[in-house]
Amino acid sequence: LFLLADTNTKVNCVPLLPMLSGDAHIIVIPAGEQFKNLEQCQHVWEKLIEYGADRQSLLLNVGGGMVCDLGGFAAGCFQRGIRFAHIPTTVTAMADAAIGGKVGVDVGHLKNYLGLFNPAEWIWIEPLFLKTLPQKEVMSGVAEIIKHAIIGSPALWDILQHIDEIDQMPWKEVLTQSALAKMKVVEADPKEMGIRKILNFGHTVGHALESYFLKKNTPISHGQAVGLGMMAETRMAEEMGILSSDDADKIVVLIQRIMDFSDILIPPYDELITFMQRDKKAVRHELRFSLPDAIGSCRWDVEVKNPKNALDWLSEQAATSSLRYIKDTL
Ligand SMILES: NC(=O)c1ccc[n+]([C@@H]2O[C@H](COP(=O)([O-])OP(=O)(O)OC[C@H]3O[C@@H](n4cnc5c(N)ncnc54)[C@H](O)[C@@H]3O)[C@@H](O)[C@H]2O)c1
Repeated sequence: LFLLADTNTKVNCVPLLPMLSGDAHIIVIPAGEQFKNLEQCQHVWEKLIEYGADRQSLLLNVGGGMVCDLGGFAAGCFQRGIRFAHIPTTVTAMADAAIGGKVGVDVGHLKNYLGLFNPAEWIWIEPLFLKTLPQKEVMSGVAEIIKHAIIGSPALWDILQHIDEIDQMPWKEVLTQSALAKMKVVEADPKEMGIRKILNFGHTVGHALESYFLKKNTPISHGQAVGLGMMAETRMAEEMGILSSDDADKIVVLIQRIMDFSDILIPPYDELITFMQRDKKAVRHELRFSLPDAIGSCRWDVEVKNPKNALDWLSEQAATSSLRYIKDTL
């Protein structure tokens, strides 16, 4: 048994697994997305060799999405593939990264450019690990939970209706429903040929926002970007007549109630659209979105010819609510 952790999960999470600590070899990598790379994989492979791993070995990834992605990739390449399992320790990893079999590493600034579809043998989701997770990280993962409710889980949607603050979250119930919603989609379409694309709801605008703020050296969390992205894309669905105004309002209200966007300065439309056109899902600059058509149901590959109104609306929200808007003069 081999256990992979990062420097934070080694201290905060591995000690909660006393039944493993005697038998397992522990391999540690530095914490942080900048270390989700081949160099750290090389380190993992060298340690596996040093400790005598063979094709019967199991690599147990104890960490957030970074450790799960890297560990699953390292295991998938080692001796053409050894078994691995995930013990996710962040909300993002419990709700999203550990489920669905996508594993990989970044190449420079290119996210997940090397990777495999390689599902874990098993995943153990245990909310106890969240006790030491910083609030900012908790909040970031909540966006994906809200997304799963909107695109495919009326049961999860109902639970979220009773939540005003993150502290009230009934994690066991919420993470169970969220995992079931994602599993239903990935089992129907493991390699993202069709319905799995609905998991991209909120991400076309979200990735554009994330890239924009990264370029300005004022990064926002992935979760905040996806939360704002879902709000804008919900309005697109409404404007195109795909989603009723009643449902669109309910979705926007839920996102604004649970998430916090207070320090975010929304960029002007012209800036954002350039980032959106570089989206992996764009075909010859035509923008493709995954858009909800009801609460609990979503379409994919929807071409949106005019996203301007929805993005302008997002900026207006920023001006009038907890989101702040300034004209970008940089
Ligand atoms: N494979 C997929 O389908 C998929 C889906 C979503 C995201 N991802 C990937 O997941 C990664 C992001 O995952 P993340 O948000 O979990 O980030 P992360 O793994 O980098 O963890 C965030 C931080 O929290 C620390 N941490 C983790 N668990 C902790 C705990 N219980 N207590 C204290 N600190 C803890 C980590 O050391 C790190 O500093 C990205 O690389 C993203 O590409 C993959």
